[in-house]
Amino acid sequence: MSLVNTRIVNQIAILEIDSPPVNALSAQLRSEMIAALQALADQSQLQAIVLYCAGSTFICGADIREFDGEPLAPHLPELISHLERSTVPVIALLHGHVLGGGLEVAAACHYRVALKSTNIGLPEVGLGVVPGAGGCQRMMRLVGVTNAVKLATSGRAVKVTDDNYARLCEHLIDSQDDLLQQGLAWVQRRLAENSLPIKPTSELALDSAAQEIDWQQFKKQVQRSAKSNPAPMQLLQQLARDWALPVAQGEKNTRKLFLQLRQSDAAKALRHAFFAEKKMQPGRSQQAFTVSKVAVIGAGTMGSAIAICFADGGFKVTLLEQSQQALERGLKRIEDEYQRSCERGRINQKQLQQRLNLIQGSCDYSSISEVDLVIEAAFESLEVKKTIFKRLDSVCKEGAILATNTSYLDINVIAQATSRPESVVGMHFFSPANIMKLLEIVKADKTSDAVLEQMQQLAKKLRKQAVTVGVCFGFAANRIYTRYGREVQQMLLEGASIEMIDQAMREFGMAMGPLAVQDLSGIDIGHNARSQYPHPSYDPGYFKVSAALVAAGRLGRKSGSGFYDHSQRTACLDPQVAQIIAQVAQELKVEKTEFSLQSIAQRALLAMISEAIQVLEQGIVQQKEAIDLIWLHGYGFPRAKGGPMFMAQQWGIAQLQQQFSALREKQGDKIWPRLNLAKYLE
Ligand code: 3HC
Repeated sequence: MSLVNTRIVNQIAILEIDSPPVNALSAQLRSEMIAALQALADQSQLQAIVLYCAGSTFICGADIREFDGEPLAPHLPELISHLERSTVPVIALLHGHVLGGGLEVAAACHYRVALKSTNIGLPEVGLGVVPGAGGCQRMMRLVGVTNAVKLATSGRAVKVTDDNYARLCEHLIDSQDDLLQQGLAWVQRRLAENSLPIKPTSELALDSAAQEIDWQQFKKQVQRSAKSNPAPMQLLQQLARDWALPVAQGEKNTRKLFLQLRQSDAAKALRHAFFAEKKMQPGRSQQAFTVSKVAVIGAGTMGSAIAICFADGGFKVTLLEQSQQALERGLKRIEDEYQRSCERGRINQKQLQQRLNLIQGSCDYSSISEVDLVIEAAFESLEVKKTIFKRLDSVCKEGAILATNTSYLDINVIAQATSRPESVVGMHFFSPANIMKLLEIVKADKTSDAVLEQMQQLAKKLRKQAVTVGVCFGFAANRIYTRYGREVQQMLLEGASIEMIDQAMREFGMAMGPLAVQDLSGIDIGHNARSQYPHPSYDPGYFKVSAALVAAGRLGRKSGSGFYDHSQRTACLDPQVAQIIAQVAQELKVEKTEFSLQSIAQRALLAMISEAIQVLEQGIVQQKEAIDLIWLHGYGFPRAKGGPMFMAQQWGIAQLQQQFSALREKQGDKIWPRLNLAKYLE
């Protein structure tokens, strides 16, 4: 099937691209576009060429699926050169998303006309690569060096109407208007006025303000946000050096970097993350979405943040508490959080007010009788939750979805407290709930498919990354996280120090070290959750360090001390903790191990992988990609490493078998069971 159709209307050629779903620049599309441009070069009467895309978007970039293989000819720079060298003016009509190679194509055209709703961006760094066809160089000439560098190194898309980028387009069209019709009318007008000269972007001058750019300051900003992805910094370094070069030379240099990075481990991992997210997106639903009014039970830290999530998504929320005092504290917390967002420029004053207006407080269960969904975020105790669900069962309307935000408790038992277990589901948010993207949708034995489908649609509206999981201790996420935590504690007993462990995981790329996280979230939280379940008899050291710290009143930041001492502004090490650990290790007669930063990170990852494969084997999650998304969006795993299952795949079965059997020898096959690696890693 042909991806490019050309027709000529009044001496204007319309080159229409139709390559669903997003008009990605595959080799076939590149080749057909070049052929179409070559065919038009023979048309002597032609006055202009209009580049237009069918469907919901302009070209959204190179076809990422091609990146795993050798680059296929014709390459994008060749197409770009045909466009720029055209002897009649080429006008790009833009709508939807104009990203990556799509923006490079648009920037090489002589004019751009766009719908006002169009987004533009150079998201390549998010895929571990850099713009490979002169996008940076041409954008520097069209929107200024600083703006182009910001666009390319941040990878973030902006609206075409954004003040800093408005110069890109010669003409903007109201979004409800017909782009092709209005775009052609503009071209005809300009032709009639004789004001459509050919101006190759490469020949435009650079702005003089570029001389003043503080590249060091730029580097600091990029360093802060790029984390373990090397692409943004490498691009910035190159642009800082090359920005004043002619386009052809600059383009050649970034193309070289693009080809080099394309095969890097980080780029492979980032591509994996991109496609894992697409794979886990819910399909189109046949069911109408019925959730509009929502209630949240419990106005503590979690409940308040969940209420914010819903208000951000445009839902009306009733926040229910037992006492007026607790309710007011929760509402104040919400207001403060919105104020902070406003001060940071994430929302404006009007949005702040709109969102606050969506949230109302109540201490009366009868006020939630008509809501479509309740999320219980009360104290983590089975008895407390059973009582609440009994109450919800008696007050909520028929068909209301009753969700619990429990992190560990058995949702089947909670569901049994109601007369409608088919309506009960887990909605497990991650802290802080209004920031972290992950949402575990927990399917209990009797949860209906209709309820699950509503949850998936809801997650999309809340802009969450949903993963559907089954019931077990900690579901998928906290169960694997607990296994990671257990291994960290075991390494402490074997002689790894607190700072070494946190440093190892930070250097690996985790947002925070695991012990600093414990201090932040409260050591007693996990301790209390675990104490509701029998400890594994085959694992004598199981979270014994945490138990000893809790017994010593060291609960983390909230009590002034935990793994670290928090009495000063910055956390510092406390020799007392080392003594507590040494004492537990001595009582348990734990053999010492020699550790390096690398061996600590490796062992922590092996623990995650081992538990993840058991979670898959037991059907708690269905796809291995779900495991990676849990870690990327719930626990700050470095995206440029792809996730534990991706890393397992990279290491390969033979290496994993060897590592697992060495650990099994030391700790036994209950802790390191034999696993069917081939089933999940081949
Ligand atoms: N290549 C191949 N497939 C792509 C793709 C791309 N660049 N972009 C999207 N797709 C696929 C998705 O995998 C999905 O496939 P599926 O239906 O089989 O799951 C389908 O298109 C629809 O995508 P979304 O579900 O993401 O659609 P949305 O409407 O939600 O979002 C989008 C559209 C904003 C364009 C989003 O897909 C996106 O951000 N895509 C990636 C854009 C990008 O990174 N472009 C740069 C590529 S690198 C480059 O251009 C290098 C150059 O400089 C040489």
